[in-house]
Amino acid sequence: MKNMMIAANWKMNTNLEQTENLATVLKRFVEKNDIGEIGISIFPPFTNISKAIEILKDTKVRVGAQNCSGEENGAFTGEVSAAMIKDLGCNNVIIGHSERRTQFGEKGEVIQKKLHRAFDSGLDVIYCIGESLEMRISDRTNEILSKLIKTELHNLDSQYLKNLTIAYEPVWAIGSGLTPLPNQIAETHVFIKNLMSDLFQLNGLSVPVLYGGSLNSKNAQEILSIDEVNGGLIGGASLSAESFTSIIETAIDIMG
Ligand code: PGA
Repeated sequence: MKNMMIAANWKMNTNLEQTENLATVLKRFVEKNDIGEIGISIFPPFTNISKAIEILKDTKVRVGAQNCSGEENGAFTGEVSAAMIKDLGCNNVIIGHSERRTQFGEKGEVIQKKLHRAFDSGLDVIYCIGESLEMRISDRTNEILSKLIKTELHNLDSQYLKNLTIAYEPVWAIGSGLTPLPNQIAETHVFIKNLMSDLFQLNGLSVPVLYGGSLNSKNAQEILSIDEVNGGLIGGASLSAESFTSIIETAIDIMG
């Protein structure tokens, strides 16, 4: 049976009250429904993490952070370290999201340092990669994904492979309402999985690959059913409790 994870990236959205509402609906949902082996994670803004943890503490829902610093500690005003995130009670962190890459210039060594700090602090990581529309059109998707993985994951300690999830998020699909065709998603996930097994001694381990980019309650069935898709990283549609729980229901259905 394949792994399945449904993850909510709230980005810079939600105040405390909205966090409380969303987390409370999610808590009731997982208390009422058998989610089996499906992993559910939410990634609120830093300021709302404690509130979400407080509400979801006795459930299977994991709470993580959307980013962490690549530095251990010190004079880095405004930064939050991986150890601080762990200390707060988080289980995981998103690294390399395309909004961090395009708006904050994160790439290469910066991403490597963040991965290193996160794993060393005991956090699981959702590592995001994706191609621009120009690259997709010029048929260079695999080339860019391979370049990112080879430069950013190349010196990853193999003991941490079990703590790694990759999110394939085409940059042009994020927040746009557009998604690749199911066969394009399947082919790209196969490419990523094959590349990972070429680069690392996986010893039977399979690194899960999530799809992200305009995943919603309407297209969830089609996308999450793809064999090589191990779940979704959901932005916009995760801000509505109704659509997020409906996506989880779809995942339960597929895994059932
Ligand atoms: P979206 O965002 O679902 O709003 O497209 C996904 C993401 O950025 O992770």
